[in-house]
Amino acid sequence: MVRYALIGGTGVYDPAILTGLREEQVSTPYGDVRVKVGTYRGKEVAFLARHGEKHSVPPHRINYRANIWALKRLGVERIIATTAVGSLNLDMRPGDFVFCDQFLDFTKGRPSTFFEGGPEGVVHVDFTEPYCPELRGVLAEAAKTLGLGFHREGTYVCTEGPRFETPAEIKAYQRLGGDVVGMTGVPEVVLAHEAGICYSTVSMVTNFAAGISPQPLTHEEVLEVMAQNAERLRRLAMLALDN
Ligand code: HPA
Repeated sequence: MVRYALIGGTGVYDPAILTGLREEQVSTPYGDVRVKVGTYRGKEVAFLARHGEKHSVPPHRINYRANIWALKRLGVERIIATTAVGSLNLDMRPGDFVFCDQFLDFTKGRPSTFFEGGPEGVVHVDFTEPYCPELRGVLAEAAKTLGLGFHREGTYVCTEGPRFETPAEIKAYQRLGGDVVGMTGVPEVVLAHEAGICYSTVSMVTNFAAGISPQPLTHEEVLEVMAQNAERLRRLAMLALDN
């Protein structure tokens, strides 16, 4: 049984910590998904590159429902999902990890639920605690042990993308209580929560958001900071999987 999954976001395309990798094609009502499965210290762990291995799928075109359905079918109970984020909070600096506990959803028109009515009826799921507190705790302890800069809490603002935000949008999100901004956290967390999977993001701050940073933002800059922090991210995932 595969109980753990890693979802790799921008800059994380390679399940390097896993051995004996095989690829599984999982059929879902939303399309087929290819998932890599390997072993880490005797545990079977699934790996999915959210944007595809060549970073060819933009945030608004990701088949979030198929991805989460496929992991559920494999038996996954815990997901650690990496996301590159911009920071709206001056205390959350490039290179810091944020284990978000809340989100604000500014996506538009993404299929974002498994519950579409019909014979199952209408389902409303409680979202008081969208991210898994237990897994967030495990990640925070691991980050502490490794001496990483991290934040146990944070509000993730999810935008539709693929463009970056305007400074006016960033100012508005700050006033609403947002801490970091990204384009992929929702509906992934929503679907995982609906599926009853314990899900936590490892948000890696790659930049200060538009209007806070003095220069225009580029995707290359985001990739560069992710690459600089790849080793720390790998060590964090390894320690968290040990729990
Ligand atoms: N905005 C949205 N997504 C991002 C950012 C940002 O500033 N940085 C990394 N991903």
